[in-house]
Amino acid sequence: MDRILITGGSGMLGRALVREWTGRAILFPVGPTQFDLRDAAAVGDAARRLSPQVIVHTAAYTNVDGAETDAEACTAVNDRGTAHVAVAAAASGARLVYVSTDYVFDGSKGAPYTEDDATHPLNVYGRTKLAGEAHARGVPGHLVVRTQGLFGREGKSFVRSILQAAIAGRAISVVDDVTTGVTYADDLAKAIRLLVESGATGTYHVANEGGVVWADFARAILDEAGRGDVPVARLPAAQTGRAARRPPFSVLDTRRYAATVGSPLPSWRDALRRHLKDPAIRAGG
Ligand SMILES: NC(=O)c1ccc[n+]([C@@H]2O[C@H](COP(=O)([O-])OP(=O)(O)OC[C@H]3O[C@@H](n4cnc5c(N)ncnc54)[C@H](OP(=O)(O)O)[C@@H]3O)[C@@H](O)[C@H]2O)c1
Repeated sequence: MDRILITGGSGMLGRALVREWTGRAILFPVGPTQFDLRDAAAVGDAARRLSPQVIVHTAAYTNVDGAETDAEACTAVNDRGTAHVAVAAAASGARLVYVSTDYVFDGSKGAPYTEDDATHPLNVYGRTKLAGEAHARGVPGHLVVRTQGLFGREGKSFVRSILQAAIAGRAISVVDDVTTGVTYADDLAKAIRLLVESGATGTYHVANEGGVVWADFARAILDEAGRGDVPVARLPAAQTGRAARRPPFSVLDTRRYAATVGSPLPSWRDALRRHLKDPAIRAGG
């Protein structure tokens, strides 16, 4: 069995990866207490001690709006922290899987982005994740997996926020001029395992199939959760007052992934239905 070190082991994707690989690999999920990305020596020591064949690097500073006012905190984790992981992976001969984002694109293409499209991030978070990609590409046999709009069983997600707002009786307003892809963390975890097992290297886009406007996704969440009575007000992104600019259209083209593993991920609606089968999730938990 492969030894696999998972950074961000307490995060949404990290936990889904642990579930996906349990029984198939020897796992070392690590969090900031044992493995602070900002500490090069700690990262190097952990990699030497655990001697993984694969490092799946999911840990990140993920507060996209917070990064605009605290760029240094975001850079320390996503840029320099990823450099520390890349150096440790190269030194220990481990394959590095780096999880990146659609926010490396500016959204001006108006069509799904392929892995070879030019990058141009609009916000601090996107710039630091792109810098992380460059560090990852310095490791022989690296894999960069760009994804978007994660929702999963743990942690903060758009699905959970919408359901919690509905349950609390709060008004729900969602942007209707931004088109994204969305990704069920369980599906992404399986996709990453399949890519690793296939020996894939280079850059891959992975998301559930189909683009969706955020307001329509909110509508679908409420409908699928049996809350069709709850209204969704639609508003332009410019009126949200959020600190970070986001690409207006950032659907990822996932054909390279489908060609490599034999099939695409299921549609986002199928993924949403599976996610909402759990009564605790439907109850906003
Ligand atoms: N969420 C999305 O919609 C989305 C979209 C595209 C790409 N991504 C990428 O997908 C990956 C996983 O995202 P996620 O939503 O699962 O993230 P998450 O739930 O926010 O988890 C992030 C993880 O990183 C850890 N972390 C933060 N700072 C750290 C540090 N200094 N040292 C070590 N660990 C640290 C956190 O630990 P604590 O919880 O203990 O602080 C947590 O385990 C990230 O690389 C993200 O950039 C996410």
